[in-house]
Amino acid sequence: MEHRTHTCGELDKKHIQEEVTLCGWVTKRRDHGGLIFIDLRDRYGITQVVFDPTLLGGESVHELAGKLRNEYVIWCHGKVRSRPEGMANEKLKTGAIEVACTKLDILSEAKTLPFLLEGDSQVAETVRLKYRYLDLRRKALQKNLITRHKVILEVRNFLDSHNFVEVETPILYKSTPEGARDFIVPSRLNQGTFYALPQSPQTLKQLLMIGGMDRYFQIARCFRDEDLRADRQPEFTQIDIETSFLSEEGLFAICENMMSKLWKVILNQDVKIPFQRMSYKESMSRFGCDKPDLRFGLEIQDISQVFANSSFQVFQSALTPTVRGKKGSICGILVPGQAEKFSRKDLDDLQSQISVFGAKGLLWVKVQDGLVLKSPAEKFFSDSEKQGLITNLNLKPNDLFLMIADQKDHVVLESLGALRLILGARLGLIPAHGQGKSEFLWITRFPLFEYDEKEGRYFAKHHPFTSPVPEHFEDFMAAKNLENMDANAYDLVLNGVELGSGSLRIYRSDIQAAMFKNLGISQEEAKLKFGFFLEALQYGTPPHGGIAFGIERLVAILCGVGPIRDVMAFPKTQKGHCLMSESPSTVLPEQLSELGLNIKIK
Ligand code: AMO
Ligand code: AMP
Repeated sequence: MEHRTHTCGELDKKHIQEEVTLCGWVTKRRDHGGLIFIDLRDRYGITQVVFDPTLLGGESVHELAGKLRNEYVIWCHGKVRSRPEGMANEKLKTGAIEVACTKLDILSEAKTLPFLLEGDSQVAETVRLKYRYLDLRRKALQKNLITRHKVILEVRNFLDSHNFVEVETPILYKSTPEGARDFIVPSRLNQGTFYALPQSPQTLKQLLMIGGMDRYFQIARCFRDEDLRADRQPEFTQIDIETSFLSEEGLFAICENMMSKLWKVILNQDVKIPFQRMSYKESMSRFGCDKPDLRFGLEIQDISQVFANSSFQVFQSALTPTVRGKKGSICGILVPGQAEKFSRKDLDDLQSQISVFGAKGLLWVKVQDGLVLKSPAEKFFSDSEKQGLITNLNLKPNDLFLMIADQKDHVVLESLGALRLILGARLGLIPAHGQGKSEFLWITRFPLFEYDEKEGRYFAKHHPFTSPVPEHFEDFMAAKNLENMDANAYDLVLNGVELGSGSLRIYRSDIQAAMFKNLGISQEEAKLKFGFFLEALQYGTPPHGGIAFGIERLVAILCGVGPIRDVMAFPKTQKGHCLMSESPSTVLPEQLSELGLNIKIK
C-alpha cells in the first residue's frame, strides 16, 4: 500500500480540512519559536508542513520536528488548512495551503550535503557528478529526465502506429564501423577472443531487413571510444530506424511527422513540414559546414572572380591549379554596418581563432565613407578589383568583409564556417538554447568517400554500407572518380546541431564487395570483419535504408539545455570517467587470469 495519500505537488484549496499523509525530503526548515515550518519536497512539488505545539498531540511531534534537518526523509500526517492571510505563495500549486502535522516519523536522516541543492551556487561539476544522486534531486535535472522519458514514449507510440517493430539487438557483438574506436570485452569462455560493443546496431538492423522485419526501430544503446565533447558521450542512445522498400523521401516524411509530433507534445509548437532540403555541396559553399544554423545569415560569398587576375601573391597562389588540377578559391563573409565594432586586435583574434582549420590568414576590408576600402592588402587591389568588390557585395560604408584565400577549397570553407559561428555569437545573432525558431533541415547527397591524406586512402564518409547515387553507380563499380561521388546519405540538422544521420544501403553483395575494394579493404579483411554480412546479402535482400537520431541531442534541444550530460542520468566526464562509481577501474588479478589476460601498461 502507498505510504502516502498525496504527493507533495498535489494539495490545494480543494483539500482544506482533509486528513492527509505525505512523504518526502525536508527542503527548508524555519523555526519561529513556537512554530516550526518545513518545505517538504518530492518529484511532484513542495508542500509546506507546520508543526504547532498547541495542536492536540502536537507537542511531542513538535519536539521531534525540532530534530529535522535538510534532506531528512520523513513521513507525516495532518490536516490541510489554509495559510494565514497574506502568506499564500501564488507561484506554487500548493501555495495556498499548509499541512498542520499531528504525526511525524523520521524515515531516514541525512548527513550535511556536499553542496546546496537550491539556488545558483557555483558548485564545480566534478562535485555534482561525484554525487550525481544528489544532483538528481534538483528540479531542473528531474524535469530533463522526465522530458526524455516522454520523448521516448511518444517515439515508441508513433513508430508503432506506423508499423515499426522494436527489436533488441545484442550489446556483446562485433566491431561495427561508425568511425570511432570500439570498446572491447574479453571472452572468458573463449580466451584470447573479444566481443566489441556496438558503435550502433548498423549491421544488425540491416540483417533484420534481410530477415523480413520490414520496419524496425530500437531505442538503442551505442558505445564509441572517441574524443568526447559537450555533444558526445562514450555511451549514448539512438532512435535507430531501418525500413525496406521505401524511398529516401518516404523515410523523410516519417521522420518529419515524428519530429512534428514531438514538438507538439513536448513544446506545444507547430513545426512546418516538409522540412527544407539542401545538398551537402550547397551547405558547404553557403555555410562552410554540413550542419548549418539557419537562424542567421552571414553566408559565405565567393569572390574568386573579382580577383582572377590579382597581383596579390596570396590570391594568385590560391587560384593556381594544383598538380591534381584543382583550383582553390577566395571567399569571404560580409558583416554589414559593423566595421567600427572590430578593432585591429579583434581582427587578429578572429584570425588566430580559426587558424586550426588551416587558413594562412584572414584578410579584412573595411568600407569607409565615400566607399573607400581600407585593408592591409589594399595596395594590391586594382581600381577595377575594388569596384568589383563594391558591386558584387553591394558594399556600404561601415561594412566589414573578411576573406580567406587558399588552394584548398575545404580550408577556405571550413575556416569561414567556423568564423561564421564566431561572428554570429559575437553579434548576438544566435538565440540561446531552447530560444528562437526551430529550423529543421535535411542535408542530402553527402560525398560517399573522404580522402585521408595521412593514410593515403579513401574512407566511407558515412559508413561502408551506404550506396552511391544512381548517376555515379557506373564510376563506382569501375573505381573511377571516387572523390566526386555522391551518396544516398542524409542528415537531419536542427539549428546547427546534427540530430540524426542515415542512408539508403547497398543491398547487393557484388556492390558491397566493390565498396570494400574502393575503400582499400582486402577480401581477407572484409571476410574477417563482415564475412557473415556479405554472405547474408546473397540470400535475397530487400532495398533498404534508415537513419539514427541521437536521443540526447534531441532531448537537450527540447529541454533548452546545452551539454547532453544534462539529459543523462549518469553521464561520464570528458575523460570518460564516471566520478560517482569511479569507473573505469582496475580488476582483481583472479579476474584477469580467468580471462587469460596479462596487463602490460606502456
Ligand atoms: P551516426 O554515427 O551519424 O550514424 O550517428 C547517428 C546519430 O547519433 C548521435 N551520436 C552521438 N550522440 C552522443 N554521443 C556520441 N558519441 C554520438 N555519436 C553519434 C548523433 C548522430 O547524428 N548507424 C548510423 C545510422 C544509419 O546509417 O542509420 C549511425 O550510427 O545525433
Ligand atoms: P602578409 O602578406 O603575410 O603580410 O599578409 C597580408 C594580409 O593578408 C594579412 O592581413 C594576412 O592576414 C592576410 N593573408 C595572408 N594569407 C592569407 C590567406 N591565405 N587568406 C586570406 N588572407 C591572408
